[in-house]
Amino acid sequence: MRLLAVFATLLAVAAASGRLMTMQEMNEHRIEAAKRWQTSGSQNVKSGGVQNITFTNPKASEFYVDGKSLPLVDFDVGPSWAGLLPISNSPNETRKLFFWFFPPGPQGSLDDLIFWTNGGPGCSSLAGLLQENGPFTWSWGQAAPTVNQHSWTNLSSVLWNEDDVAAQLVGFMQQFLEVFAELKGKKLYLSGESYAGMYVPCESAVIFFERNSKTNEDIANYIYENPSRLDLSLQGIWINDPIISWLVVQQEIPALDFVKKHASLFSFDQTYMDHLDKMAATCNYTGYMDKYVTYPPKGLLPLPGDSTDFAQGCDIWTDIWFSALMINPSFNMYRIWDTYPLPWDVLGFLDMQSPIYYNLTDVKEAIHAPVNTDWFACSPDVFETEDSSLPPAFTVLPNVIEKSQRTVIVRGLADFRLIADGDRIAIQKQTPIANDSFILDGVGAYGSMHSERGLTYYEVALSGHMVPQFAPVASFQIMQYLMGFRDTP
Ligand SMILES: *[C@@H]1O[C@H](CO)[C@@H](O)[C@H](O)[C@H]1NC(C)=O
Ligand SMILES: *[C@@H]1O[C@H](CO)[C@@H](O)[C@H](O)[C@H]1NC(C)=O
Ligand SMILES: *[C@@H]1O[C@H](CO)[C@@H](O)[C@H](O)[C@H]1NC(C)=O
Ligand SMILES: *[C@@H]1O[C@H](CO)[C@@H](O)[C@H](O)[C@H]1NC(C)=O
Ligand SMILES: *[C@@H]1O[C@H](CO)[C@@H](O)[C@H](O)[C@H]1NC(C)=O
Ligand SMILES: *[C@@H]1O[C@H](CO)[C@@H](O)[C@H](O)[C@H]1NC(C)=O
Repeated sequence: MRLLAVFATLLAVAAASGRLMTMQEMNEHRIEAAKRWQTSGSQNVKSGGVQNITFTNPKASEFYVDGKSLPLVDFDVGPSWAGLLPISNSPNETRKLFFWFFPPGPQGSLDDLIFWTNGGPGCSSLAGLLQENGPFTWSWGQAAPTVNQHSWTNLSSVLWNEDDVAAQLVGFMQQFLEVFAELKGKKLYLSGESYAGMYVPCESAVIFFERNSKTNEDIANYIYENPSRLDLSLQGIWINDPIISWLVVQQEIPALDFVKKHASLFSFDQTYMDHLDKMAATCNYTGYMDKYVTYPPKGLLPLPGDSTDFAQGCDIWTDIWFSALMINPSFNMYRIWDTYPLPWDVLGFLDMQSPIYYNLTDVKEAIHAPVNTDWFACSPDVFETEDSSLPPAFTVLPNVIEKSQRTVIVRGLADFRLIADGDRIAIQKQTPIANDSFILDGVGAYGSMHSERGLTYYEVALSGHMVPQFAPVASFQIMQYLMGFRDTP
């Protein structure tokens, strides 16, 4: 609000003098705006004094990473610990997971631990570290890394972890806590993106089971492998742009409405739009939101066809995507307004390129990663594999929400990979979501938000799929809310 007022004043000055602004004046306003964004949020960082974690287990020092000597990074990213740890304490355990742990920055809390996983499945959480919420950023189109002012390490310790199977992950965390024993007893927040929606809630259920004796196949599996208890106190979960329902709900049903909302970005001609309209009608997608997503809900929502998959000839989402690529070869389903050319990406997520940062031998050596293993942003062919389990919205999510202090679901509105309206269908228990209700400190309205019975659902405007990457200030504020560092969402 204040920002808008300042702009209004500046514009008024130019207008009053009855002339167009010079290029230099325009640039000054732009730079001033960018400065405000950089400092936004930091006024709310909880003050905890200078942090100084020392790990007494001598094994910890084997994992120490010198933040001054990371290849191609010309500043100090601070102390951290990384490497491979086994997923159980069995002496012949061969399964290991890779982690990278950062202690809290000067203002962060020592009582908390954030755990981050990227989705996929099979996508590396190290991508999130470098391009979303870590202390240094080397994002799309950046020629060199920079300091991330909105690193989640400003809030607390953060652990980026490479794998996604619930039971293995808990086993790993137990081993992690043996080495980094000073972290035992901390408040834990599980966070993740995309497909993480499929496993973060399951992990929560596993940990809750330890405390609350609920049954679930995942948990049984976990008990077999990990009879001892995880010494962390789970408080809440963050999932952004998650898969919480069937893809027919999160992609197919809302796809055409999404195109219509962003008509100029897709630029489809009338003939093609007519084709889409016909397809949506035949497939029972037309009017679905208006008819079924009512408040209060009339009951369990019907699926448009006779199964949880789309019917023959009803994959309207892929039809749209292929057509979007014909018009805009750089069409990015993760952030729909990207145009030609694709930005260079040091992780090769957007475009195949070489070398890839985490695949460089000296980088692997610096972070104690296995030198003989190739690194990929996402392992091929796993995302589309249908998971036969029921989606979390129907199974563990309600329980996780109930057991957590706070739960946040965050959705970028420019995400076509998984579409916001699909979330609204999946969490239909919500009451209507007021427009302009997500207020970003120092900025103003930045989307919509609704809190109800422990769940806060956010729709972040001007963000694609990777919300911490595209809307770091908003993500920082939301994480502060999840952690109880602020009272309002
Ligand atoms: C951190 O701890 C070490 C060892 O306990 C101590 O020597 C050092 O002075 C501490 N640093 C700060 C900034 O407190
Ligand atoms: C470890 O080795 C023992 C004895 O060789 C075997 O009984 C056990 O199943 C092995 N455990 C694992 C996790 O491979
Ligand atoms: C946030 O973290 C970055 C990177 O570690 C650091 O440069 C910055 O000063 C921190 N900001 C605050 C407000 O602590
Ligand atoms: C659409 O709904 C009708 C009525 O329920 C049903 O008969 C038809 O099979 C559905 N169409 C598709 C493609 O699923
Ligand atoms: C990763 O590095 C290995 C060994 O240098 C190389 O063979 C491989 O092609 C690289 N992979 C990518 C995706 O760059
Ligand atoms: C929010 O704005 C949209 C678009 O202007 C409108 O269609 C919708 O009815 C509004 N929703 C509410 C809850 O006010």
